Amino acid sequence: MKTCTTIREIRAEIKAHKAAGRRVGFVPTMGALHEGHLSLARTLRQYSDIRVCSIFVNPTQFNDPKDYEAYIINLDRDKELLEHEGVDLLFAPHVSEMYPQGYQTTVTVNEISKPFEGALRPGHFAGVATVVTVLFNAVSPDVAIFGEKDFQQLRLIEQMVRDLQMDIEIVRGSLVRDSDGLALSSRNVRLSPEGRRNSLAISRGLFAAQAAFRKGEISGAKLEEIVTSSVQDVSGATIDYIAVVREDTLERVGDVTDPCRILVVVKIDGVRLLDNIALD
Ligand code: PAF
Repeated sequence: MKTCTTIREIRAEIKAHKAAGRRVGFVPTMGALHEGHLSLARTLRQYSDIRVCSIFVNPTQFNDPKDYEAYIINLDRDKELLEHEGVDLLFAPHVSEMYPQGYQTTVTVNEISKPFEGALRPGHFAGVATVVTVLFNAVSPDVAIFGEKDFQQLRLIEQMVRDLQMDIEIVRGSLVRDSDGLALSSRNVRLSPEGRRNSLAISRGLFAAQAAFRKGEISGAKLEEIVTSSVQDVSGATIDYIAVVREDTLERVGDVTDPCRILVVVKIDGVRLLDNIALD
């Protein structure tokens, strides 16, 4: 796996692959890789001839600068994992390469950015949309994959690619869970052993709501209540939101009649855990 740190270098590599008629697949990440990221890289194998991964901890998407400072990655370990996965190229730029002196453009995707994560983390999605645009311009992928775990982010990227007429296929990567049900996240390592056990109330609640939907419950409020009752009594848990939303617009629904998802964010011992499940 070759590592490029400048846009010039990665462009030269990609140009050579495209000249040879190869289809370029892309997995953007912020490092701290886990099985969820690796499964995205694996899925992308079906869609592309060469696979490019980026590792860039994007300062503009952290609404709290302290979170950015506390975000630690181990590049050597991440590289080993990608190498083992057979990824062809790694793009690992420095902040000054992505945002050179005098940088002043921001990409904003309007409606989809407003609720949920957008309301709780002002500026977060503008940071994501902007960095993904710069990454797309650097890598010029034919296809890129984003995980369903960050469902609002995935919808934001799909909307942006459509609105800005970017010629990139966006593939949805399935959410990956640990064998006990916890959605994989780089944040899980911050949970205490007790917090880790308590966090299972989230996926238990989501599975129970999905089962209720499959048995005929279509009331959004009742499905939300099933998840709420699973997590509300857990020690150290605070609910940021539990919402049954339309998959396309992320608007909250009364009854589930079109494709919907339950989006959940619960803090356990101060660790924000995102999860969601399709109502299908
Ligand atoms: O999901 C992430 O890891 C990041 O938000 C992304 C898409 C790599 C942009 O920095």
